[in-house]
Amino acid sequence: MIGEQYLLLPGPTPVPERVVRAMSRPMVNHRGSEFKEILINVTEGIKQVYHTEHQVIIYPASGTGALEAAAVNFISPGDKVLAVSIGVFGDRFATIAREFGAQVEKLDFPWGEPTDPQVLRERLAQDIKQEIKAVLITHNETSTGVFNDLAAIRAAVGEHPALLMVDAVSGLAAVALKMDEWKLDVVVSGSQKAFMIPPGLSFLAFNDRALRIHQENKNHKYYWDVSAGLKYLEKGQNPYTPAISLYYGLEEALKMMLEEGLDNILIRHQNYREMVRAALKEMGLNLLAADGYASPALTSVIAPQGIGGNKIRQYMRERFNIVLAGGQQKLDDVIFRIGHLGYVRELDLLAVLAALEIALLNCGYPIELGKGLKKAQEYISSI
Ligand SMILES: Cc1ncc(COP(=O)(O)O)c(C=O)c1O
Repeated sequence: MIGEQYLLLPGPTPVPERVVRAMSRPMVNHRGSEFKEILINVTEGIKQVYHTEHQVIIYPASGTGALEAAAVNFISPGDKVLAVSIGVFGDRFATIAREFGAQVEKLDFPWGEPTDPQVLRERLAQDIKQEIKAVLITHNETSTGVFNDLAAIRAAVGEHPALLMVDAVSGLAAVALKMDEWKLDVVVSGSQKAFMIPPGLSFLAFNDRALRIHQENKNHKYYWDVSAGLKYLEKGQNPYTPAISLYYGLEEALKMMLEEGLDNILIRHQNYREMVRAALKEMGLNLLAADGYASPALTSVIAPQGIGGNKIRQYMRERFNIVLAGGQQKLDDVIFRIGHLGYVRELDLLAVLAALEIALLNCGYPIELGKGLKKAQEYISSI
């Protein structure tokens, strides 16, 4: 098929040519001065994206690796943990904590909705003896396309001493997150989403409070131990051999992000959300998330009854070489997801929306061609 594939997943996301070129450079000594400079640069760059002055450790792992690192460094076996879940990834963080010995209590909200901070506040208020050691929460729930308002979540946790531990794998740099201002104690993110580099790196940021808790931590750990990470970071090294090419890519991607401006990146993602949602609604489609908490990183579309999301995705891939994500677990075939984070342009989204109208029509959904697309065009010309 002619042309490049349009990869509209909520991760992995398209990798810019500048990043690809940067990654093709030859290897250097990972215990030498060239790598030291890169490590210092990228660590500082990541801190800017997190809006933190605290610690960041970079792991050669996908996001789940850093979630496990968060669990083994900051939760001890037997600790009571309140795991808030609004979808697949909230469930996963809970499972990891349980696997490493935590006594996990789930606080579940319906898929497609965000966390209600009031419910969290009330649950923590019942914890008079302050036995809950950590609250786990997802920043942007990729399985549903819903974000949690972390500033409101922080306010709900209030003075309760539990660590607030956030999975921001798909949210960071696409959805607002201010680690220090919002007093988020531990925040995990990953490379293959808004950071615009391939999968394989994940980031674990933590503040002094978390570090103190880590120092008393009794969980098993070796590869993930942040004490080892911090000790080597002082020398400008990783404890173990780093994924050097991905660091080249990360350095270039951070340059691009800072050139664009972190606030501008957030605005760009919000605009994508508005444009895509306006077009889809005009097509008569129902969206899983309501306007107030719909993610700027991706949009979950409820597939028309009797057609199913997978048939539409198959048509898009086979006819146009456009890849959309399916629904996960109980949402398989119920929804399809359009990723619009990272290195995605308005023009890409216009093409995808135009193709989607054709796909819908050919899958048996009655639609007047151009109707949704026009809304997207109007939105773009209005901003
Ligand atoms: C919110 C969230 N958490 C965790 C993960 C897991 O990350 P990975 O697949 O990189 O291990 C993902 C991946 O999509 C995610 O979106």
